[in-house]
Amino acid sequence: MSISLSIAASGKTIKSALILVTQEEVSSFLRQDTLDLITSHTTSHAVSTVFKAVQFTGKAGQACVHVAGTIPLVFVGLGALDKKPVENMETLRRALGTGYSQLNGLGVTEASVSIPAETAFGLSRAQYLEQATIIFVMASYQFIQFKKDKKTTDLALTLVGFDESDMAAIQTGMFMGEAINKARALADTPGNHMYPEIMAEVAADIARKYELNYTVIEQNEARDMGMGCFYSVAKGSEHAGKIVVLEYNPSHIKDAPTIAFVGKGVCFDTGGISLKPSNYMTGMKYDMSGAAAVFATMEIVAQLKLDVRVVGITPLVENMPSGHASKQDDVVQAMNGLFVEIDNTDAEGRLILSDAMCYVQKKYDPAVMIDIATLTGSCAMTFGPFFAGLMTRDETLSKDLVDIGFFVGDKVWPLPLTDEYKPAIESTVADISNSGSPAYKAGAITAGLFLEYFVDKGRRWAHLDIAGTDSKIPGTTYLGRGATGTGIRVLVEYARRFKK
Ligand code: BES
Ligand code: MN
Ligand code: ZN
Repeated sequence: MSISLSIAASGKTIKSALILVTQEEVSSFLRQDTLDLITSHTTSHAVSTVFKAVQFTGKAGQACVHVAGTIPLVFVGLGALDKKPVENMETLRRALGTGYSQLNGLGVTEASVSIPAETAFGLSRAQYLEQATIIFVMASYQFIQFKKDKKTTDLALTLVGFDESDMAAIQTGMFMGEAINKARALADTPGNHMYPEIMAEVAADIARKYELNYTVIEQNEARDMGMGCFYSVAKGSEHAGKIVVLEYNPSHIKDAPTIAFVGKGVCFDTGGISLKPSNYMTGMKYDMSGAAAVFATMEIVAQLKLDVRVVGITPLVENMPSGHASKQDDVVQAMNGLFVEIDNTDAEGRLILSDAMCYVQKKYDPAVMIDIATLTGSCAMTFGPFFAGLMTRDETLSKDLVDIGFFVGDKVWPLPLTDEYKPAIESTVADISNSGSPAYKAGAITAGLFLEYFVDKGRRWAHLDIAGTDSKIPGTTYLGRGATGTGIRVLVEYARRFKK
């Protein structure tokens, strides 16, 4: 069963309800909008009795279902909401996720939803509603393309306490959530159904629908343009590699500055000739999550009609072993002229990103460039599932991205990019090596430093390593089992706030 979601702001007769309550409300008295919602079906006293009977204290994430007459009431605890606003907001997100799965489990098709006022969360009413809406949409995500039985149910949510003037924020949250879920579906789609050609078609569809400029550089064109690093990975597969560029141009703004987003699109990463052991290969369909994030970001940016020009570039390949594949010790030349020794064909992400970064800088001269990639197991080991690795030498950019990450609930945290680690990627035969010497460990950082060799001097640049946050996140109730759409909310918010 799947759920298609619609959200509105109004108050009509209720069929079921989802009510988020603080610990204090559970122990003393319920808020007014909760009472307004339930009093035609039950009494505050009856509800308290149920709370006591099932020992529902309202602690964060705790759920309690009480059927009043025929009306199921789902209560989910928010705890004391006494932490920092951003932490309270994460509590709310997870409570919404819990509430959503409870409603789903009950099989209801309409629910009134009562959430506390925005004040405890440090957000404006519009930001709060937008974020709550995104979470509901994300919570409704299910990947059922390969399930024979695809029965779907519509769930209509009505947010009580809000009105017509709040609809714009809800609608924004809806299209953001939907674009995120689309990216998740791309990432969840297995490699035999998702290869560069299909990815490029998806991007072309987005471009048509949202009036973005679309260009594709074919594998051999890329080679002829000097993208030897990209080509060295692409040529190993039966599926031709492609570089897709999506462009959002704010025609209403003169001389708008440009932001470039670069997304790693390895549709499947076997490791190539440096073949991964099979237990490390499972899940490598997610290795195009950076590209999927860039697609979704472009889709959202277009709908937000931002005042900044945004270019999204995604090198798309499949990393395969074959008679055409690159070998260990091969040397290839990147578009900026640097020679790279391929010490390990499994360090393919940095190879395809390097040429994409060279190209986008040359063609668009962006004010800022941010790449997003499932780049290293090392980063996943460092942060686990809750933070993406952030690498940049630009302190303002670092601070902005960390702040934004907390604000949108898609967190990033810095790792140092310093010259001390640079000898790790020295090569005896070429300018640099594509894999860091084990003596230096720090694989996430040495990968970041590799990318830095392809960033023009003076260019503002940050690298996001999403290897740990792309899929299968435990505990985060609104994410489920598969792809997460990590990074999209960060990139979108960065573009939204961008001022030259
Ligand atoms: N796609 C992987 C990184 C990865 C690992 C993502 C685990 C998600 C989960 C990347 O292409 C890779 O294989 N990196 C190697 C680099 C090494 C060979 C220098 C790694 O991290 O082991
Ligand atoms: Mn790899
Ligand atoms: Zn990879």
